[in-house]
Amino acid sequence: MSITSFNEGQNHSARPKITTLTIQEKKQRREPITCLTAYDYATARLVDESGIDMILVGDSLAQVVLGYDSTMPVTLEEMLHHTRAVRRAVKSAMVIADMPFGTYHNDLAEGVRNAVRFVKESGAEAVKLEGGEKRVEMIKHVLDAEVPVMGHIGLTPQSVHKMGGYKVQGKDLSSIERLMKDAVALDRAGVFSIVLEGVPREVAAMISREVSAPTIGIGAGPDCDGQVLVFHDIVNLTFAEPAKFVRRYGDAAALITAAVDHFKADVVSGAYPSDKESYHLPKETKAELEAILRRKQLKAYSR
Ligand code: KIV
Repeated sequence: MSITSFNEGQNHSARPKITTLTIQEKKQRREPITCLTAYDYATARLVDESGIDMILVGDSLAQVVLGYDSTMPVTLEEMLHHTRAVRRAVKSAMVIADMPFGTYHNDLAEGVRNAVRFVKESGAEAVKLEGGEKRVEMIKHVLDAEVPVMGHIGLTPQSVHKMGGYKVQGKDLSSIERLMKDAVALDRAGVFSIVLEGVPREVAAMISREVSAPTIGIGAGPDCDGQVLVFHDIVNLTFAEPAKFVRRYGDAAALITAAVDHFKADVVSGAYPSDKESYHLPKETKAELEAILRRKQLKAYSR
C-alpha cells in the first residue's frame, strides 16, 4: 500500500485529512489555523463538518461537561473515554487530547506511557501538555515515542494554585522573558504547535514571530498563527460570565431551553405524541385482536 492510499483510506470526508504537517504548512503560508474543543460525538461531528482544522479534547471537559470548578479533578480514564467519542465522529480534523493534571508530572516513563495510551486507546493524533522549559525533557521523551506534542504556556489552568488564580501572564519584563524562553524551549524540543493562553497581544505577537511552531492563541490577541476557543463558550453553554476574549457566536442555551419547554408543554397538554407519531398494528392483527376482545366481552356479559 502506498503512503497516499494509506492516507486516503483513513479519510472518508470530502476535505483532506489534517495532520501536523498541514498545521505547520499553514503557518508558512500565513493561513490562519482554526481550533475548537469538543468532548463528545455530536459536537465533534458538527465541528469537523464545519471544516475546523484541529479539535482539542481539552481538560476544560472537567468544567464545561463534568461540572467541576477547575480542570484538576478530571482523570486519565475520563479523558480517554471522551477522546474515543470524539475520534469516532471526526473524519478530517486533527484530534488532540489534553493530558490531565498529574499524568505527566512525575516520572518520564509514566508520562510516556500515558501519552501512548491516548494514541493507542483513544485514537488521538497528538497530546497537549502544559508548561515550558521544565517540561522539555518529558516532551522529548513523548516525541521519541512517536507521539506529536502541542505545548501550552502563559495562563496554564493546571497551575491555577501556583499562579494564585486565573491571571494574565507576561505583564512585566521578567515574566515576558520567562514566556519567551519557554516558547523557544518548546519550539526547539520539537512541538508541532504551542497554545498561548492569557498573554498580552504584544507578547503573543513577539513569540509568534520568534518560533517556527505555529502559535494557537486563546486570550492572546489576533497576531497568533491560529485561534482556539472552548466550544461551550462560543455557543453559550457555560452558565457563567464569559472571559474578555470569548465571543459568543450562538445561543445554544436559549435554543435548548425553548425546545425543552415546548416538549414539556406538549406532553402536559396532550399535544405530544400525535397519532402520526405513534406506531400502529398491521390491519390483520388489529382485526384479530378486535375479534378476541369482542368474544371476551360477550363471555363477560353471558356470565
Ligand atoms: O482545556 C482546554 O480547553 C484548553 C484550551 C487551550 C482551550 O486547554
